[in-house]
Amino acid sequence: MVSTHPPEVQYSGNQYLPKISKEAALSPNQQLLPLTSTVNSKDCLVIGGCDVKTLVQQFGSPLYIVDEETLRTACRQYRDSFKHYYKGESQVIYASKAWSCLAVCAIVASEGLGIDVVSGGELYTALTAGVASDKIYFHGNNKSIEELVYAIESDCTIVVDNWNELRTLVDIVKSLHSASHPRIMLRLTPGIECHTHEYIRTGHLDSKFGFDPGDLDELFAFVSKQSAINCVGVHAHIGSQIFERQPHRDLAGVMVQWLEKAASYGLNLTELNVGGGLGICYTESDDPPSIEEWVKPICEVIQEACAGQNLPLPKLICEPGRSLVANSCVTAYTIGSAKKIPDIRTYVSIDGGMSDNPRPITYQSVYRTVVANKMSAPMTETVTIAGKHCESGDILIKNAQLPKTETGDILVVMATGAYNYSMSSNYNRLSRPAAVLVANGEANLILRRETYQDLVRQDCLPERLTHKVSQ
Ligand code: LLP
Repeated sequence: MVSTHPPEVQYSGNQYLPKISKEAALSPNQQLLPLTSTVNSKDCLVIGGCDVKTLVQQFGSPLYIVDEETLRTACRQYRDSFKHYYKGESQVIYASKAWSCLAVCAIVASEGLGIDVVSGGELYTALTAGVASDKIYFHGNNKSIEELVYAIESDCTIVVDNWNELRTLVDIVKSLHSASHPRIMLRLTPGIECHTHEYIRTGHLDSKFGFDPGDLDELFAFVSKQSAINCVGVHAHIGSQIFERQPHRDLAGVMVQWLEKAASYGLNLTELNVGGGLGICYTESDDPPSIEEWVKPICEVIQEACAGQNLPLPKLICEPGRSLVANSCVTAYTIGSAKKIPDIRTYVSIDGGMSDNPRPITYQSVYRTVVANKMSAPMTETVTIAGKHCESGDILIKNAQLPKTETGDILVVMATGAYNYSMSSNYNRLSRPAAVLVANGEANLILRRETYQDLVRQDCLPERLTHKVSQ
């Protein structure tokens, strides 16, 4: 990666602070640091009124730091943009795969959002956080029988992904002899291409998710005859970290055609879910649309298309993950050793890595970083930030621009709220970091740091091995 900072210009970590705008509210997905970020008189980064260095002293390192105001702002911008631009009913649901834990679910639910879950574990988390089941949508391309039964009994909406699941679900409902008929939506693959990483594209035809659009007639004919289930709508999701606006416009148009076709089979589908996918800023050169700019055209296309086809406006649902949580969070690490290889590079090592942020090694994702205790120091060094795992590929950031650093400095990696904690592991038996929620100068623990005892909690030592261990 080539440095984006011309050497003659001396930037500092302060360049990443949100730029206050008089004209428009800042869209969290367009900022690198959380919206409340400032620098105090000690030249330290402050988030949610809390000094990041002090947070690390108090809660340990590495540490996920979540800014409540940024998260709530993103929720409100989605919710209010739909209210503003859409004349029908709307519901924003949070794709909890981005970060599933009790506190995050509780915050988004308190802003009126629903939750998208993709496993029994995520469903359990959402229900435990107090999310109402009529606002929970259960996705997944291979739900187990146990998960389907759990979803039915919890009374959430099941987003059916394929024929096998549809037939299994009908059989389960019949066998339960229950009076209730689960609400379902049908996930379809729209065949819409967008330019994002291959692993996070889902809407093109060669995808493991959703019914093939070629099956639409057969599908609607089948569903219209099933009294065991209550089919309320259609769903599609075309991919993640998308900056283009056209794919979702196209999607909205295609989905209204599906509603029209369903009507010809006597199916009155009243809900339409356009998925998530809005991109965020990981670096200063990323330029995603704001939340409002993403919502507006989707509403316009659906309203126009429905008016053209004489269809009533469906309840419009979207399910963002990344753009709701990513920029509300940073990860703070402590700098340890450094290795300078003359004429090649300098490695600066931190106390975490691919176990708390697997995105660089998985998707070659690029992150930006600041030194929390040297915010206005000029960035004079180009170094490679290495994780502490026994793996050469465990590099968090190549060619990072930093001020001169020393052991004990606090390195903050920005925009780590989405798909970091949720994809974290215990590789090399590292314990997962703690997470704190910051607001108005107060910090609350939302995830306890794992202990060594936690790491062996699920281990079983067969009796015949205990002898050898104690010898
Ligand atoms: N709805 C469905 C059905 C999805 O599969 C996803 C993401 C979303 C909504 C939310 O998409 P978002 O708004 O977050 O783009 N681990 C990858 C991202 C995988 C996304 C999977 N599905 C990463 O770290 O980039």
